[in-house]
Amino acid sequence: MNKKILITGISGFVGHHFIAKSRPNRQLFGTYHQNEVQFTDITCYSLAITDTAAFIALLEDIKPDTVIHLAALSNPNYCENHPENCQEVNSAATFHLITACQERDIHFIFASTDLVFDGKKPPYTEKEATNGIMTYGLDKAKTEHLAELMYPNKVTIARLPLQYGWCETAPNFLTNWVKTLKSGNTIKAFTNEYRTAAWAGDVADGLLLLAEQEAKGIWHLGGPERQSRYDFAIEVTKILDVDPALVIPVLQKDIKMAAARPTDVSLNSEKATKLGYAPGLAAERLRMIL
Ligand SMILES: NC(=O)c1ccc[n+]([C@@H]2O[C@H](COP(=O)([O-])OP(=O)(O)OC[C@H]3O[C@@H](n4cnc5c(N)ncnc54)[C@H](OP(=O)(O)O)[C@@H]3O)[C@@H](O)[C@H]2O)c1
Repeated sequence: MNKKILITGISGFVGHHFIAKSRPNRQLFGTYHQNEVQFTDITCYSLAITDTAAFIALLEDIKPDTVIHLAALSNPNYCENHPENCQEVNSAATFHLITACQERDIHFIFASTDLVFDGKKPPYTEKEATNGIMTYGLDKAKTEHLAELMYPNKVTIARLPLQYGWCETAPNFLTNWVKTLKSGNTIKAFTNEYRTAAWAGDVADGLLLLAEQEAKGIWHLGGPERQSRYDFAIEVTKILDVDPALVIPVLQKDIKMAAARPTDVSLNSEKATKLGYAPGLAAERLRMIL
């Protein structure tokens, strides 16, 4: 059966990792907002997710089996400083998209985050109660909760970990680190912030697995190892063959940011692993992408 999957926010960092993932039995469609993208294997459309009528027109045109909803304001510091905008884009718009999917019996996957947790009792399974400590995480948790109440029989909550990858047009922390380290300059990395980071290409495969299996409920798509940001940075220096002393160890409290940062939101992703999710180790994936 040819499965049609519509991915909102394909122009973002995670979205770019769906390139080349169309298959004879899997047709991918995507949306962008301010950054127009065109990919050879994915038909892309312009969409503001706050424009429900435009989203409905897209659903009527494409008739997808699943919507993977990535589009969001993804920067916790921005969300902290702009809570109303965060609520409008990350929560309110999502509810309207879910309603539109529910009315058409379309499976809906909501991209949530490990930041729905406070970081005090890791590693977190899907059964743990959420307790975010910043606007972004609180908003995602609220949206998860309402999504499940609204559309319990066809909604999937995918909690994504911190992701890394290489994408010139949608850079992330790794892109900046690599450019800085290669030019011989120093970076700062937290020794007391732990995550189960994953390569965004593996997470994209995990999301497609959830789409193909129509796996309902909550799923963690964390990476296979718990590492501090500092340890991860040291892995990067090994692959780049640069001096590890270029990584300056710092504590979270040393760098002031708008959004509070949990110390350890490591995810237990055994449930997804049993379903076939197979994220690679950082050393292996960094060697592949750098
Ligand atoms: N990256 C991570 O490490 C990470 C970790 C956990 C969870 N997540 C979640 O995963 C999802 C994707 O993250 P990402 O890193 O790819 O984020 P990103 O790089 O910031 O991309 C955000 C995407 O959302 C789109 N978007 C933003 N506002 C929009 C609006 N009003 N209307 C329509 N589209 C809009 C952007 O479109 P344009 O660029 O075209 O404007 C872009 O495609 C998000 O839901 C995020 O919360 C990410």
